[in-house]
Amino acid sequence: MIGTSRRVRVAYAYRRIRQLGVVNLLRGLYVRHQFSSAGILSVRAGWPLPKVDNMGGSVAIGNCSLFPGVRIECWKGASVNIGNGTYINRNTEIVAAQSVFIGRDCKIARDVLIMDTDQHPVGSAPMVHGPVKIGDRVWVGSRVIVLKGVSIGHDSIIGAGAIVTKSIPPHSVVVGQAARVVRTLCPEGGPSTPNDELHGTLRA
Ligand SMILES: CC(C)(COP(=O)(O)OP(=O)(O)OC[C@H]1O[C@@H](n2cnc3c(N)ncnc32)[C@H](O)[C@@H]1OP(=O)(O)O)[C@@H](O)C(=O)NCCC(=O)NCCS
Repeated sequence: MIGTSRRVRVAYAYRRIRQLGVVNLLRGLYVRHQFSSAGILSVRAGWPLPKVDNMGGSVAIGNCSLFPGVRIECWKGASVNIGNGTYINRNTEIVAAQSVFIGRDCKIARDVLIMDTDQHPVGSAPMVHGPVKIGDRVWVGSRVIVLKGVSIGHDSIIGAGAIVTKSIPPHSVVVGQAARVVRTLCPEGGPSTPNDELHGTLRA
């Protein structure tokens, strides 16, 4: 006689198989070994298969759907956590130098870039990292870029093409990006000019 919790697990697995398709789940089984821990993964048809470049961190994923071309890069000592029910669409890339956390039931659209590091220093300053946290049920639109140190509150929507540089409260809809001068780098690698000083120069 099988216990209730086992019956629940079997029923859940059966439902997932019907919803997601056997072939997608087999692909999920094939890519599963790349993660430090993984739930039931489904991988949609197409190439290249999702790839994890783990350089000595921890990459944990729940029961999730991944599309072709997804790439997760995790640096030494860093962590990536992706919650149950989240799907990550084509060619999305996640880079963690410290910590990237994505909650449950999130929709991450295609060509999204989520990085908790600039990957290069700015001028003479040391390279900056800052943990990224995306709350539950957040929908991140296509070609969004989420940068270092950002938290996105649960149940928010990030409009296509937005660049998120500041934390967003829960239940927000955010859009937009616009190029503007924020600092001028000293050619000799000295301190950079802050934007307000620069704006004063431009006005003079
Ligand atoms: C350009 C960049 C390196 C600047 O980093 P930084 O000097 O630490 O900048 P800050 O985070 O202090 O931001 C300065 C201001 O610019 C804004 N900002 C920063 N990056 C921005 C971007 N990509 N788009 C629009 N605004 C941006 C910030 O909101 C902030 O605005 P404020 O002055 O109104 O507060 C960084 O923001 C960036 O774009 N990193 C991604 C680098 C990348 O693509 N690496 C991939 C591997 S090569």
